[in-house]
Amino acid sequence: MKLTYLGHSAFLVEEGGFKAIIDPFISGNPLANVTPEDISGLTHIFITHGHGDHIGDGIELAKSNDALVISNAEISGYLSNKGIKTHAMHIGGRYKFDFGIVKLTPALHGSGISTEEGMIYGGNPCGFVIEVNNKKIYHAGDTGLTMDMKLLEAENIDVALVPIGGNFTMDIDDAVIATKFVNPKVAIPMHYDTFPVIKADPNEFKEKNKICETVILNIGKSHEF
Ligand code: NI
Ligand code: MN
Repeated sequence: MKLTYLGHSAFLVEEGGFKAIIDPFISGNPLANVTPEDISGLTHIFITHGHGDHIGDGIELAKSNDALVISNAEISGYLSNKGIKTHAMHIGGRYKFDFGIVKLTPALHGSGISTEEGMIYGGNPCGFVIEVNNKKIYHAGDTGLTMDMKLLEAENIDVALVPIGGNFTMDIDDAVIATKFVNPKVAIPMHYDTFPVIKADPNEFKEKNKICETVILNIGKSHEF
């Protein structure tokens, strides 16, 4: 499996014929080094919650790639009204797709969708456990530290993607505890430095995380396992 960091919480996930993007915030990201037009061949798009820095370019990418969007029921409903193919799930639910298995995990956050007509209810925010060819990743979404993460230890996660930027999500110290709870083989920090309010040093997370290997991905770089 190849994980490519596109900045903020956006990752490309490639395994065989499966090519997905999670939380595709690209054109609005001041640190991004690709454009949505650079991204092709997507089969799936995962959206953790309704905030603009997570839905991001999801609508455009779903249309240009004819990709299936997997999200909670409320965001899926919002997107299917725009003519996008969606698969609605909800917190705690697991489903076997043709490419592998997806489970929605709880996230402690909000999920409102900003539109020109105002804020729309976006359901509960989530994270994803995604398993393809016996390789399993956990994308935590935007979340505070929660005891629920301890339950993910039983999932035997290979790679956990954890927010460290604070203010809207866990900071470094909380992300270290979260990583201890999840107990993955590898942790990759995300959701930092995009804006001044979430500035954080991923090397500090790496020093403090004693539970597993930390891989710090520069934007555009990949981790393969
Ligand atoms: Ni958010
Ligand atoms: Mn966010």
